[in-house]
Amino acid sequence: MADGVERVLSGEVSQFDERFEQSLRPQFLHQYIGQEKVKDNLSIFIEAAKGRSESLDHVLLYGPPGLGKTTLATVIANEMDVNVRMTSGPAIERAGDLAAVVSSLEPGDVLFIDEIHRLNRAIEEVLYPAMEDFCLDIIVGTGPSARSIRLDLPPFTLIGATTRAGSLSAPLRDRFGVPLRLEYYDVNPLTEIVIRSAGLFDVEIDEQAAGEIARRSRGTPRIANRLLRRVRDFAQVKGNGQITAGIAAEALELLQVDSHGLDYIDHKLLTGMIERFRGGPVGIDTIAASIGEESVTIEDVYEPYLLQIGFLQRTPRGRIATRMAYEHFGYNYPEE
Ligand SMILES: Nc1ncnc2c1ncn2[C@@H]1O[C@H](COP(=O)(O)OP(=O)(O)OP(=O)(O)O)[C@@H](O)[C@H]1O
Ligand SMILES: [Mg+2]
Repeated sequence: MADGVERVLSGEVSQFDERFEQSLRPQFLHQYIGQEKVKDNLSIFIEAAKGRSESLDHVLLYGPPGLGKTTLATVIANEMDVNVRMTSGPAIERAGDLAAVVSSLEPGDVLFIDEIHRLNRAIEEVLYPAMEDFCLDIIVGTGPSARSIRLDLPPFTLIGATTRAGSLSAPLRDRFGVPLRLEYYDVNPLTEIVIRSAGLFDVEIDEQAAGEIARRSRGTPRIANRLLRRVRDFAQVKGNGQITAGIAAEALELLQVDSHGLDYIDHKLLTGMIERFRGGPVGIDTIAASIGEESVTIEDVYEPYLLQIGFLQRTPRGRIATRMAYEHFGYNYPEE
């Protein structure tokens, strides 16, 4: 990470999060807060599949990091009452790796492939018949003696997760019967998530404090849980352990997270655009170079939330800082 500091507002998972995330993960749909549309859809498909004693159709989960894709995959498996095998696109290097995983599945099991957009094309080809007809065509031998054998698989549910649905090849995308897009969370469900997590951490928190944390969490449960941990530490050292609105505000101030959940990188990005490029339009690569980040990181991690809250606009000629961004950072918006 730039400057060698863990970015408290990154939606991406850090080694510190992992220790906690397992214990905070909801296990069943009724514990999974928010994403009502996704849950409504899923519960119908799950009930229907169970009613027919069939495996659930393949599910594609997409959306920015930290919104609950991995969590939802486990929830689906629990609701279907089946096992889940977890792997990821980059971990499957050879067709044999995939064959080994799918042939070990029990009927109805869930195979979860995280970062499925990073699966290589040769392996995608092997995946198509596995998804469609539950079989694998494997080439044995080499040269003239090579032949293809067909292996039958138990019916299974593939759940793919990706932060970039756009980078998925069309034939792969089309083979998912249930594509579900996760959205940034509103403050109310995020507040509920903070209260639930505080309960699991066994710390007292009042609703106003939870709301304060939620408002600054960029619509992302992972960030909300991370801020909660930092605020909890602060409450323990500076207070009596209880998280009040005052303690929360003080701690968040110290973490340099502003009222919109923006931190120094967002600050650098937007004020840089305003000061050096008159607010744009400016190309993503130019922005990336000017703040020393990779373009893909900006596109996947920083930009989606800034677009969502209307501080940034995407145009064919590049990114534009909006009037809201100017005003938030105390600049005069240039009137035409
Ligand atoms: N709907 C929810 N209700 C309660 N907690 C949630 C919810 N969604 C996510 N969380 C919490 O947020 C954390 C991050 O979720 P998760 O790891 O599933 O995100 P992800 O979308 O898979 O992220 P990535 O893109 O980095 O893989 C989890 O620890 C989980 O406890
Ligand atoms: Mg995940």
